[in-house]
Amino acid sequence: MKKRIILTGLVILALVSLLTPAILSADTKPGTQPPGSTGYFSLPKLNYGFGDLAPFLSEEQVKIHYIKHHNAYVTAGNALLERMENARKENTEFDVKATLKELSWNLGGNVFHTLFWENLAPASKTTPMPTGMAAQMINREYGSFERFKAEFTKAALSVEGSGWAALTYSKSLNSPLIMQVEKHNNDLYFGCEPLLVLDMFEHAYYIDYKNDKTSYAANFWNNINWEVVNQRLEQALAK
Ligand SMILES: [Fe+2]
Repeated sequence: MKKRIILTGLVILALVSLLTPAILSADTKPGTQPPGSTGYFSLPKLNYGFGDLAPFLSEEQVKIHYIKHHNAYVTAGNALLERMENARKENTEFDVKATLKELSWNLGGNVFHTLFWENLAPASKTTPMPTGMAAQMINREYGSFERFKAEFTKAALSVEGSGWAALTYSKSLNSPLIMQVEKHNNDLYFGCEPLLVLDMFEHAYYIDYKNDKTSYAANFWNNINWEVVNQRLEQALAK
């Protein structure tokens, strides 16, 4: 119970400095365990097999990305939580600035990766075009799906260094906003709900595409779980 309280406090701190409340809201905080368990992060389960996203992503690419890279953020985030908890128990000091900076990186990494895996699907189980409310919202704001796709892709390909492209929904504007995120935690907009994210870290594509991130970003559109995007939009609108 105490760990849950500590975790909640840390999330609030991270919110203030680095991440949007929407991205860290309870509904979109996958990767954490439910109330009553340990209170530390855990690696979320995938809704498909490692090889099911091929040819967009090979089994080897997904496996390494998920087990090595995503899991590293979970493990490192938990180590930071433990470090702070121990310092409080023992009433000793810890480097608050450095710890919170590291926590923001790892917490953001876990949240974004969880959103990413969720908004992917085997090509045979989804459609190349958006459906339902997401389709309506995209057409209303961008004029056409092709226009949206072009803007989102440009955002993804022009991320400085490593980062993410994200389609978000701003309730205050009542419109979607494309977000270009540097690393896992810079250039975020406050008050926006994430609907669709694309990992533009090299580790997301280097096995299958080497340095050809353009092909990686182009093939992404064959494997988007529009049902999940619609569910996220419905939840955002209901808040
Ligand atoms: Fe990644």
